[in-house]
Amino acid sequence: MGAGPAGLMLSHLLAQQGIESVVVEIRSRQAIQETVRAGILEHGTVNLLVDSGVSDRVLREGDRHDGIELRFNGESHRIDFKELAGESVWLYPQTDVFMDLAARREADGGDVRYSVTDTSVHELEGRPKLWFTDADGQEFEVEADFLVGADGSRSHCRRQVPEAARTQSFHEYPFAWFGILARAPRSAEELIYANSEHGFALISQRTETVQRMYFQCDPTENAADWDDERIWAEFRKRVNGNGFELKEGPVLEKMVLPFRSFVHAPMRHGKLFLAGDAAHTVPPTGAKGLNLAINDVRLLFQGFESFYGSGSTTLLDSYSDRSLDRVWKAQHFSYWMTSMLHTVPGADDFNRARQLGELRSVVSSRHGQAYLAEAYTGWPGR
Ligand code: DHB
Repeated sequence: MGAGPAGLMLSHLLAQQGIESVVVEIRSRQAIQETVRAGILEHGTVNLLVDSGVSDRVLREGDRHDGIELRFNGESHRIDFKELAGESVWLYPQTDVFMDLAARREADGGDVRYSVTDTSVHELEGRPKLWFTDADGQEFEVEADFLVGADGSRSHCRRQVPEAARTQSFHEYPFAWFGILARAPRSAEELIYANSEHGFALISQRTETVQRMYFQCDPTENAADWDDERIWAEFRKRVNGNGFELKEGPVLEKMVLPFRSFVHAPMRHGKLFLAGDAAHTVPPTGAKGLNLAINDVRLLFQGFESFYGSGSTTLLDSYSDRSLDRVWKAQHFSYWMTSMLHTVPGADDFNRARQLGELRSVVSSRHGQAYLAEAYTGWPGR
């Protein structure tokens, strides 16, 4: 269930091994395509897209980034990924990953049903069944060896797991992100993660003429209350200074993004496997969400390949533990980046000074920088 990047990628990998799958999705293809999502791909994610033949568009149209800038106290400090971790990341929006996967599944004759309604799942501990009504109003029942819940943070599949058979870990943060798309030239070659006494800001990019940026805001903030001038004034306060000035332009889209950490474990119940946001949510500060989802389906695919190839369930049985190993590293990294860069409403002088001490410890130490570089580009051992 779910035709986001996780569901489509898994279905693509399975098809290449002759393993049949049906993907159902409640949203329309158009709606998924129009949703603005994050933009950073780890090198391992890029390799899987390219090596499995989804598309090499990421290499042609994506931008390789060999570092980021941490900005605080009005000064920028570059973290050189290539030098510290030997790796890079790619700026290539999730929407494009979806479009590449959807096009490839379509070209290969994959069975992907968008805009379905009335989905329900049954017999997860036996032989799973999935009921749905397709876009033409026709009702279906699919019976399969396995069901994969790749149906996003509001997962229907996850909710079918009995309470006694799972644990859920949450962490709430006292802020959210205000995200914009703006028509403007790039302000910098690389992404800027800025800490300031007025709160966090992230300067990202999309194209030569459209930029993506975020600033920390109150979770109850209403995007409609913010006109362009108010938005740019907020960015200026947090990022400009010491000769650096953001390039501004008309705001094309604005939205308030939720912010929390969540893990559901184990990621398997009977014949149901959860993947991606259905099982875990990270705050966006480390750009890990999509990369974790792709890692999940890579591991899950190995499990299915081994099961259908040799009948072995070993890799399927260890799927949840293997996935959660990386999920918790990413939870920690995202939490760490978040707490190091955001300001907590009402924080005292001690906390502010401590935070600046933390930032200086990272940028003044090769080891501190290297931890950030390794985590951001994606831990080895994929
Ligand atoms: C983007 C989003 C992130 O959460 C991040 O950490 C970096 C970039 C983006 O949308 O470009």
